[in-house]
Amino acid sequence: MTQRRPLIAGNWKMNCLRADGLALASGLAAKAAEKGSLGCDVLVCPPATLLSEAVGVTKGSAVSIGGQDCHAAMSGAHTGDLAATMLADIGAEYVLVGHSERRADHGESSTDIRKKALSAHDAGLVAVVCVGETEEERDLGATLPVVNGQVAVSLPDGATAKNTVVAYEPVWAIGTGRTASVEEVAEVHSAIRAELVARFDDGDQFRILYGGSVKPSNAAELLGLADVDGALVGGASLKVEDFWQIIESCA
Ligand code: PGA
Repeated sequence: MTQRRPLIAGNWKMNCLRADGLALASGLAAKAAEKGSLGCDVLVCPPATLLSEAVGVTKGSAVSIGGQDCHAAMSGAHTGDLAATMLADIGAEYVLVGHSERRADHGESSTDIRKKALSAHDAGLVAVVCVGETEEERDLGATLPVVNGQVAVSLPDGATAKNTVVAYEPVWAIGTGRTASVEEVAEVHSAIRAELVARFDDGDQFRILYGGSVKPSNAAELLGLADVDGALVGGASLKVEDFWQIIESCA
């Protein structure tokens, strides 16, 4: 069986002013230092305003920093956007691409997301490519074709288990307190795994995260599933204690 080191990722979204964000990042770094060796990799994705300082306060710790989005181009006339090279330049190691809130709020398609993932790879970042069905799509019985279609188009041909992580986040489970059942999660993760194995030589090594109302009370059960290699956590990543308990669930 393939050993995949779990990744616990926190997506702060548009939350945290400077004092709270830096306290959160440094609180996690301190916990990690106190613990010594961890059972997983740890990533936090603060808003753009805090990225550089978050890199500073977590330097030398087990906590990595990632952006929440990047532009497909490396530079140019794109007001308000950030290039993957800019994220890499300040010491970020990862970037989320294709989060459902970006797909919904900014009309991003899987083709757009593939271009963003490519620019992340070119900049030396790990792209965390997010996919997931809406409630309507699930009710129509279209979950697997929708998710598989998003994976097929959003992942560039050059994706490897080293430069890419897939995050399955059912849209109806994000921020709603409604987690997908273990059966639902297991079914989708194994379908994603089959698709990765069919397409990439190292498809069995890619980490597939689950996201959608992950909290301390349900993390261990979800993380115990065969093809769940970590979690992408929104709300529960905003408190050191909650996020730390989820990290500890990987032990
Ligand atoms: P949630 O968000 O944990 O608050 O549901 C997850 C996400 O959107 O990444």
